[in-house]
Amino acid sequence: MKTFRIRVDGQAAEAEADSETSLFAAMTRVGIAWPVSCRNGTCRTCLGRLLEGRVRYDIPWPGLSADEKDEGYCLPCIARPVADVVIVKA
Ligand code: FES
Repeated sequence: MKTFRIRVDGQAAEAEADSETSLFAAMTRVGIAWPVSCRNGTCRTCLGRLLEGRVRYDIPWPGLSADEKDEGYCLPCIARPVADVVIVKA
């Protein structure tokens, strides 16, 4: 399965994830700290913004509006990469 690179803007550490692994899980594996609470896409504690890349969700409407999605906001606890990603905390 293809893997994608996950990077937090301004940090040297980099994670790898396939399209079945959440950004949060991948970041945690390599020691990148990221705020998280519900881990199911509802509380928005983990809200981030994609500077590069794209993600997908298993649920059709995670706790994001269509406008937020269009602006690059994502929920790393449930977002899975479909391209190399650079993210920043929102
Ligand atoms: S931790 Fe609650 S939406 Fe991600």
